[in-house]
Amino acid sequence: MPKHIYINKKINSFNKTIQVTSDKSLSIRTVLLASQAIGTSKISNLLESEDVLNALKMIKKLGINYKKTKNFYEIYGFGLNSFNPKNNTVINAGNSGTLGRLILSLLIKTNKKIKLIGDKSLSKRDFSRVTVPLKLFGANIKSRKNSLPIHIQGTEFLRPINYFEKKGSAQCKSSVMLAALNTPGTTIIKAKKSRNHTELLFKYLKLPIKVRSTKNYDLIEVKGLQQFNAFNYKVPGDISSSAFFIVLTILSKNSKIKIKNININKSRIGIITILRKMNCNIILQNKKNYKGEKIADIVVKSSQKIKKINCPVSLNSSAIDEFLIIFLIAAKANGISNFKNLDELNKKESPRLNIGLKFLNMIGVKVDREKDNIKIHGNPNLKITKKLHIKKYLKDHRVFMMSCIAALSLGGNWKIDDKDSINTSFPIFLKILKSLGAKIR
Ligand code: S3P
Repeated sequence: MPKHIYINKKINSFNKTIQVTSDKSLSIRTVLLASQAIGTSKISNLLESEDVLNALKMIKKLGINYKKTKNFYEIYGFGLNSFNPKNNTVINAGNSGTLGRLILSLLIKTNKKIKLIGDKSLSKRDFSRVTVPLKLFGANIKSRKNSLPIHIQGTEFLRPINYFEKKGSAQCKSSVMLAALNTPGTTIIKAKKSRNHTELLFKYLKLPIKVRSTKNYDLIEVKGLQQFNAFNYKVPGDISSSAFFIVLTILSKNSKIKIKNININKSRIGIITILRKMNCNIILQNKKNYKGEKIADIVVKSSQKIKKINCPVSLNSSAIDEFLIIFLIAAKANGISNFKNLDELNKKESPRLNIGLKFLNMIGVKVDREKDNIKIHGNPNLKITKKLHIKKYLKDHRVFMMSCIAALSLGGNWKIDDKDSINTSFPIFLKILKSLGAKIR
C-alpha cells in the first residue's frame, strides 16, 4: 500500500450528515482514570486510534487488564497506585504527548523502575514541563536533555505542591492533578485557562476537587489519596477531528454538513468562536449535558464572504490544535488576519507554526512573522493550480489532514506523504472525505 495520496480535483458540492470519531483527550483520560478506579469501568465509543490503543497497551503492561466487548471496553481497576509492572518495564507512548506526559504522574509512587519511550516526533518534545512539577512532588525521574527516554521509579515519600501553570497547557495542569491523586494532602494549582476535561472527570468521579475561576486563571485544589469507584462513560465526538470538515464545508461552494454528537466544551471550541467572528455560518443544535461535558450537533454551511480577524490571544488555548486549519480560512479571508503568541504551536507533534507558515508560502499566501506573531494576507480569490508535494513534516496527523482539506477546497495537483499519520487520531478521516465525494487516490 502506498504511503502517500494524490488529490487532483476539488470536491463537488455536498450536503451530508456525518459522524466523526470520538474525542482523543477524553479517551486517553478515561482509560487512565479507569486504571486507577476500583472495579470494572465500561467505556463505550472509545476512540480506536493509535494514541488511545497505546494507552490501553500501556496500562496492560503496568498490570491492569482490559477486554474489548461488542459495545465497550471493560477496564479492571484495583484503585490508586495499583500498577504492578515487572522491574525495568518499557512503556511506549508512541506519538502522544498527552499519554506520555500523563502516565508519568501515575507512576510517581510505583515501586519499580519504568522506562518511558516514544516515536521520533515525541522524542523531540520537551518533557521538563511535566518532570519539573513531578520532581517537586518528590518523584524520582531521570532523563537526558529533558526529553524521552525517561526513567522513573516511584517513591513513598511524596508531598503536595503549590504549582503555577503558566503556559495554558492542559497536559501540564492534568499531569499535576493526576500526581495529586497519589499524594497525601492538598495540591494547589493556579493554571492559565486550558481544556478542563480532567477537572470535569474528577468532579463526575466525586474526587475531592475545588475549582475557582477568574478571568484568565483557574485555581484548582485536589486532595489526594481518595479512592474512587469504577465508572461508565460514553465518549462524545471530537471537535478537533470535526474541525477539518467544518473548514472544508466553509471553503466549498453550496455545501452543508451536520456533524453529530460533538463535545462542545467551552475550553475546546475556540475554532467555532474564531470562525464565527470571521463571518462563517456555524450553528450548534440539539445541545445536551453529559457527565459534566456539553455535546451538540454542529451544522455548517459554505461561507462566501470570509472576514479577516484580530484573533484574541485568550482564544489560543481553546483552539490550540486547530490553528493550521484556521490559517486556511484566514488565507481566503478578505484582509489581513492577526494571530499572536503562538509559541506553543511549535511544541506540538511537529513545529506547527513553522510548518504552517511554510505551507501558506507554498500555496502563494503572503505571511509576515515577528517571533510568534503572524499576519496572514488573505485573498478571497485564492486558487491553486500548481503541483505540490507535502513531505517531511514529522508525520504530523494534523498537517496531513489540513493538506487534504487545502487540496480539496483550493485546487491544484497534490501528493501528500505519510497517510498513515492519521492513525494516531482519526483513522477513518479519508473514508469520511470519500463519502462526501472527494476523489483521493
Ligand atoms: C491535550 C492538550 C493540548 C493539545 C493536545 C491534547 C490534552 O496540549 O494540544 O493535543 O488532551 O490535554 P497542551 O495542553 O500541551 O497545550
